[in-house]
Amino acid sequence: MAKVKNVFYCKECGYESAKWVGQCPACKEWNSFVEEPVAKKTSGGSVKDRRVQVEPTRLSNVDCEADTRIMTEIGELDRVLGGGIVIGSLVLVGGDPGIGKSTLLLQMSRDLARKNRNVLYISGEESLKQIKMRASRLNYAQGDLLLLSETNLDLIEAAIERIKPEVVIIDSIQTMFREDVGSAPGSVSQVRETTNSLMKIAKGMGISIFIVGHVTKEGVVAGPRVLEHMVDTVLYFEGDNHASYRILRAVKNRFGSTNEIGVFEMRNIGLVEVANPSEYMLQGRPEGESGSIVTCAMEGTRPIMVEVQALVCHTNFNMPRRTAAGTDYNRVNLLLAVVEKRLGLQLASCDAYVNVAGGMKVNEPALDMAIILAIISSYKNKPLDAKTIAFGEVGLTGEVRSVNQAEQRVLEAKKMGYEVCVLPQVNKELIEIKGIQLVGIKTLRDLLQLL
Ligand code: TYD
Ligand code: MG
Repeated sequence: MAKVKNVFYCKECGYESAKWVGQCPACKEWNSFVEEPVAKKTSGGSVKDRRVQVEPTRLSNVDCEADTRIMTEIGELDRVLGGGIVIGSLVLVGGDPGIGKSTLLLQMSRDLARKNRNVLYISGEESLKQIKMRASRLNYAQGDLLLLSETNLDLIEAAIERIKPEVVIIDSIQTMFREDVGSAPGSVSQVRETTNSLMKIAKGMGISIFIVGHVTKEGVVAGPRVLEHMVDTVLYFEGDNHASYRILRAVKNRFGSTNEIGVFEMRNIGLVEVANPSEYMLQGRPEGESGSIVTCAMEGTRPIMVEVQALVCHTNFNMPRRTAAGTDYNRVNLLLAVVEKRLGLQLASCDAYVNVAGGMKVNEPALDMAIILAIISSYKNKPLDAKTIAFGEVGLTGEVRSVNQAEQRVLEAKKMGYEVCVLPQVNKELIEIKGIQLVGIKTLRDLLQLL
């Protein structure tokens, strides 16, 4: 009997190695290598022997229909996809388990089926009953959506060829397998080979296919990064376990921009679009309290207003406590040091807690000025004007540096009804917007006069 040959794959990125290594040379992940049988090559003789010829086509002769997109009616999803689903595209939807991938795709299938589109929803994780239960929660117990509970890709392929749907959903790629690939479902070679087959179906038959891929930190299944380079579009669905909002982000898109995000809220009737994320993030904001200020962060090309809170209080311990929720801990420490040194506030004897309210994570430097204002406001116990927002990067010498897309941030503030905007002087000089007062700041000392 021929000996079965094994190779090692990185389950994060799919890198192949003849022997086991502790750290992946490609993605630098530790302890990510798993042993799997070598993927069999399909026989059929070399192309050279068969003397097949390929003929190039002139660009002008390639016909390309004008209407090659299907609108999903979920505005936020259409936006992230770059204006609807491109016919014949392969889209990967990644995210942590339980974040709402199945819910989003079932909602999309529902809306498409209601518009008489031929949609096939294939689940390898849930039985038909379970899908129906979910559909009932989404207020879609009766309808024409075609369901299939199957994990064998050869059978799925045959079904797709017979039914010829316009859109197919594969939930999830880690449960699918092809019999001729020796390894278990979820292994690197299975995930790669099944995606390969799906890509051939998508391109060959002009069917748009959505693939769900779970992000895994631990465990034996391969992560979606293995297939990121194979698909046309990669969307990641992210959110906080404690907050109900979800952000859909395009990290790769062959048919549109990757700067777009879609914002959703998980409710008991499924995912609801959040058309105005700023309003959503500022719900329940206290007014007239010290240590709170609103800033405008950018999520790709979209401005989102968030509230930054700080609590600074005296401590009797030698080691003051510092925490940062929703932003970078080290950045907060650095800003505390800058405030202490440049403005002479006695922060070394104070605990400081900084929080970006609403559960959003903001890591851009434009947040600096808001963090500093919140800290000073809390330290002095003086509330800031509730109709003021602030943004700007702060350097180590206390200088305030310019940030990108300042104009969009100011416009968003104006739209949300704010009256004063504190921003870097450099940015202020370039902006001409009426209806909101702009306060340019050069160094931190200018800030003190404001309070
Ligand atoms: P799901 O789509 O199953 O996640 P994934 O496919 O990414 O693993 O989402 C499951 C979560 O969503 C679950 O915790 C329950 C919640 N949920 C709601 O809050 N409302 C709803 O209407 C639905 C269908 C799910
Ligand atoms: Mg699911």
